[in-house]
Amino acid sequence: MIKVLFVCLGNICRSPLAEAIFEHKLKNHNLHTKFFSDSCGTSDYHIGELPDERTIACAEKHGIPIKHRGRQINRVDIREFDYLIAMDRSNQKNIQNLIDKSGIKNKQVYLIRDFQPDADDPEVPDPYYGGSESFEEVYRILDDAIDHLLQQLRQENQIYA
Ligand code: 4NP
Repeated sequence: MIKVLFVCLGNICRSPLAEAIFEHKLKNHNLHTKFFSDSCGTSDYHIGELPDERTIACAEKHGIPIKHRGRQINRVDIREFDYLIAMDRSNQKNIQNLIDKSGIKNKQVYLIRDFQPDADDPEVPDPYYGGSESFEEVYRILDDAIDHLLQQLRQENQIYA
């Protein structure tokens, strides 16, 4: 199985939504036996918490099941996951610092919008201090980015079924 980890700051808004969208697309393409995914935060702010209620409302509106509890990234994640995928540059930098400290070699940290060929911004904006429209914007970005991500991961790993 290809292991994919989505990472944001709090693990209650962007990354659990990314994970839920990814899993939903996997099921739709009958690919859930080929990939394993999870999400986490770089901070310890929301460990054990459900996703933000606005994240849950947004996912439900789009028919995406969402079930997650907040957790913080750790060194085992760095070793175990094939793809570490950050939502913004700050997350990317924090993950890179953890990699540097842990001495693990040859690990790359991607930005999720790296996979979007025509992204107008390299980052997924943090919706935490925004309104429900900020969550809709995050959904729209993630839905498109994850289509491209899945396409690229299938190509790289020669997964056709
Ligand atoms: P996330 O959003 O990183 O997309 O989960 C945030 C959630 C919580 C906080 C910041 C961003 N916070 O400061 O508690």
